[in-house]
Amino acid sequence: MRPANPFYTSNRIPSEYFCDRVNETETLVKEILGGNNMILISPRRMGKTGLVNHCFQDERIRGCFETFFIDIYDTSSLKEFTFRLGKQVFDRMSTVDKVKAVGFLNCLGSLRGEFTYDQSTMTPKFALSVGQIRRPELTLDEIFSYLEGLDKPCVIAIDEFQRIADYEEKNVEAMLRTKIQRLTNVRFIFSGSERHTLSLMFSSQSRPFYRSAGVLELLPIDEPVYVAFASRLFADYGKTISREAIVAAYRLMDGYTYFIKRTLNHVFWETPQDWEVTEDEIPRRVDEILDSESATFKDILSMLTMNQRLLLSAIAIDRKAVNILSAEFVSRHNLGVPSSVQSSARSLLKKGFISRLDSTYYIDDKFLELWLRREAGV
Ligand SMILES: Nc1ncnc2c1ncn2[C@@H]1O[C@H](COP(=O)(O)OP(=O)(O)OP(=O)(O)O)[C@@H](O)[C@H]1O
Ligand SMILES: [Mg+2]
Repeated sequence: MRPANPFYTSNRIPSEYFCDRVNETETLVKEILGGNNMILISPRRMGKTGLVNHCFQDERIRGCFETFFIDIYDTSSLKEFTFRLGKQVFDRMSTVDKVKAVGFLNCLGSLRGEFTYDQSTMTPKFALSVGQIRRPELTLDEIFSYLEGLDKPCVIAIDEFQRIADYEEKNVEAMLRTKIQRLTNVRFIFSGSERHTLSLMFSSQSRPFYRSAGVLELLPIDEPVYVAFASRLFADYGKTISREAIVAAYRLMDGYTYFIKRTLNHVFWETPQDWEVTEDEIPRRVDEILDSESATFKDILSMLTMNQRLLLSAIAIDRKAVNILSAEFVSRHNLGVPSSVQSSARSLLKKGFISRLDSTYYIDDKFLELWLRREAGV
């Protein structure tokens, strides 16, 4: 059955509703088939997870590999990393068959006795807590050696991989690198949105992962390609949207896949069958979305200090803010003194409100950016 709205936001997108990424898919699939590991970098919400899932659905991968996906954004220790990987392998194997899942648990000698079975069906359960992993390095060895022994090669995608650099245990980066290097049956896709941290990990000679994987940078989908895609989806449902209207949405959202999609999702709902959406309708529809997000944004901002709020708003106003410590920037936005701007920038970066590319700061959440601009009367 086709979805009621073709711009639905999900991470598993059937190919009919998946836009482009033909070259990126080819690159990733070919590198994996060629036995290489890859790093996938893009700003937030550009489509990393969607692309990885798309590649996992590709016949060449799906037919030959076991695939695993973990997001380690909210992990802070090797224990949690190991737990998450173990749970994902267990869950995947359980969907293949029960015997495989039991086989996996049996390989985890370091955790022997920690698992439970559903007595009536004899189905194993991964009823384990992070705390029960007492020797994460050993457990990780067991997980990897299980994967090495599988009759199919494996691909493990690890999202927000840069997190491992801040794990509480020492030298996790070097230790993981050594283990990964030894694997012959397992390929990796490391992805993340902290471009600066990730590229340091893979391009500094002093770091363990130095040049250990190819790099793929995910840029916005080309504007004309997106326009053709979105027009087709409207037409498929008997609705019409002008080329200029799609371009307006694309540009307002700076090419960010997620935000364009959310905008067109709303526009689609609001468009009757015999109506043509024109360019001038887009700002009004975006305003409606911002209205609906307003309460959430106010809540979020109330958790920031006044200085952080002022800086966030200043960055929204400039969209791409450069030289934020300069007297010009500080005085133009009434930010007080550069030292407080510096500490505010540090905490906004840490909390993920802003991103940085070289010396340019910007807000990835395009709705928040537009909302802040609207509040500031820009
Ligand atoms: N090629 C595509 N065609 C259509 N929709 C897409 C495409 N790529 C991504 N999307 C949509 O865009 C949204 C964001 O994609 P995704 O979650 O993959 O981004 P991400 O880079 O992993 O984000 P994050 O940094 O938040 O993890 C999702 O709702 C997804 O459905
Ligand atoms: Mg993602």
